[in-house]
Amino acid sequence: MTTLSTAPLAPLLDRLFEVDAAASPATNPALPGLVEEREHVMRSKTGYLDFYGRLKDFPLAVSRETGALLYMLARSTGARTIVEFGTSFGISTLHLAAALRDNGGGRLITSEFEPSKVARARKNLTEGGLIDLVEIREGDALKTLSVDLPKPIDLLLLDGAKALYTEVLSLVESRLRPGALIVADNADFCPEYLERVRSTAGGYMSTPFAEDVELSMRIG
Ligand SMILES: C[S@@+](CC[C@H](N)C(=O)[O-])C[C@H]1O[C@@H](n2cnc3c(N)ncnc32)[C@H](O)[C@@H]1O
Repeated sequence: MTTLSTAPLAPLLDRLFEVDAAASPATNPALPGLVEEREHVMRSKTGYLDFYGRLKDFPLAVSRETGALLYMLARSTGARTIVEFGTSFGISTLHLAAALRDNGGGRLITSEFEPSKVARARKNLTEGGLIDLVEIREGDALKTLSVDLPKPIDLLLLDGAKALYTEVLSLVESRLRPGALIVADNADFCPEYLERVRSTAGGYMSTPFAEDVELSMRIG
């Protein structure tokens, strides 16, 4: 048995994934032009505050498969210190915090600029019995993740504005332990990030994994 597969977390995640599946921003009439805008904003280093602000009522969560992958990676590496870029409703956070619990404890720092999402994530983490392991930093991650990070960091999840993946990696990089894992969701939207982690001289080993994840490991 794991924290992930038992109550209170398992039924909570079932509910949250149901909400996620039912809420498609792309087909929402209240958000006209979103699909076209997404193509542009996902690759732009500006405009993300407005774009994600309009999506404040949508979970935009990792897939169930990616959630399970996050739990397994954190468990199998015995992670104790995790940083996350992009909390939203806290669905990925719940998977990572569950792994910390089952590893015997630890610390997860996650970042979200949308206040209503911070409140929802806090509520979900409380309901899931995991809030004691999580520090939610409210504000732009470019600021909130630029100070007071622990060392060493065992695992980094990149799931905020895609165009900022390289910048956020730079903020965290000096604290990643050798062998630390970086999971980047939808990294195809950030070619400069892929170039960096895939370059042989870049200090990472990296491979695309499943459909939309880039899995990288810090070497030195
Ligand atoms: C794809 S969602 C994250 C989903 C979440 N990881 C999950 O699986 O439940 C991206 C989130 O990142 C937030 N975000 C985007 N850019 C950000 C930034 N620069 N700083 C903080 N949060 C950001 C958005 O508001 C949005 O809630």
